[in-house]
Amino acid sequence: MQRLTNRRILLGITGGIAAYKSAELTRLLKGAGADVRIVMTPAATEFITPLTLQALSGHPVHLQLLDPEAEAGMGHIELAKWADLILVAPASADFIARFSAGMGDDLLTTLCLASDAPICLAPAMNQAMWRDPRTQANAHKLTSQGVTLLGPGVGAQACGDTGPGRMLEPEELAELAAEQFEHTVLSGKRVVITAGPTREPLDPVRYISNHSSGKMGYALAEAAADAGASVKLVSGPVMLPVPPRVECVQVETAEEMLAATLDGIEACDLFIAAAAVADYRPVAIAEHKIKKGSEEIMELRLVKNPDIVATVAGLETGRPFTVGFAAETRDVIDYARSKLARKRLDLIVANDVSNPEIGFNSDDNAVTLVSAEGETGLPQTSKRQLARQLIEQIAQHYLKSTS
Ligand code: C5P
Repeated sequence: MQRLTNRRILLGITGGIAAYKSAELTRLLKGAGADVRIVMTPAATEFITPLTLQALSGHPVHLQLLDPEAEAGMGHIELAKWADLILVAPASADFIARFSAGMGDDLLTTLCLASDAPICLAPAMNQAMWRDPRTQANAHKLTSQGVTLLGPGVGAQACGDTGPGRMLEPEELAELAAEQFEHTVLSGKRVVITAGPTREPLDPVRYISNHSSGKMGYALAEAAADAGASVKLVSGPVMLPVPPRVECVQVETAEEMLAATLDGIEACDLFIAAAAVADYRPVAIAEHKIKKGSEEIMELRLVKNPDIVATVAGLETGRPFTVGFAAETRDVIDYARSKLARKRLDLIVANDVSNPEIGFNSDDNAVTLVSAEGETGLPQTSKRQLARQLIEQIAQHYLKSTS
């Protein structure tokens, strides 16, 4: 069973006797398809060696905040952004206390602070420590802030006591980790997403295109599938793997993208146009390679491409809830708002591509979701995290429109 295919799990291990079970947990998460990176606190290394976990996870274990070698590979902020889920198992009383106090005094607490990913803790400690009012207050504070506690279980403890404080078994933890990805906000819904650039051929060897990487559209497809939707991704040429559980139709030109989008659109509930479609294409495609001539200036005749998102939004029957993107370099919200009206969209995702840290080709993005009623800003984060937040927001707007 590959329920965690391509999921990126950051497994934090803190100092407690249950740390020996984290080896089995790593094996189970890997077996379910997850990519697992491990961070250990110094105390954890007293209970189990980093070498064991390196061998099981297939990656070097991260141990210190200020480790120039590790930072040269994947730095702590990169690691925080990389994770789809942070699972701390075992989570000691000390870790829970430091994390609930908002401290960043080691690598693991710092990662937890720096990440937008959901965080799950599997507490493991002596029953009296777990019952202690200070530990209880810390745990409650964390759950009220959105952290999920997995366990603890009740039973015999390594110290000879019996009671609450046992770490859940690795099988249970792997199962609960998989459940964290099972959202249902779009279950039973059909979503079509366009992504990437289009290529408009000039002759058999040349084309007009743009720098769109497709990362945002692919991340949206993955997030929509995670939210329970059945997803068709209509993709221009990009270098990205198709996300699991997503049907992908590969196209090159805007006209092909339009045809693939319209094929079956009446059965679709939501359409998200994230592709960077070429506005124009050559009037004619030369049959043979265009030869260099003696003239200094060469002129190309171009004709306007169909506007895919406006075509879908203008459908008289079977029109899905339609979301467009507006990549702008100035007056971002104003232009987005006029595009929303002109193309008759339900929502538009506005982003400022003049900032090189976000937008085209970068791994991060920051956007504002604009509707006729208002705006919601989603601050800079990885495109994968942002896609999750966007799908959540889009789903809320869509569900409101159907109720
Ligand atoms: O007009 P502009 O290209 O700025 O609009 C951007 C939005 O319109 C994006 O959602 C893009 O996917 C969509 N679009 C389209 N077909 C086109 C041009 C843009 O679907 N020919």
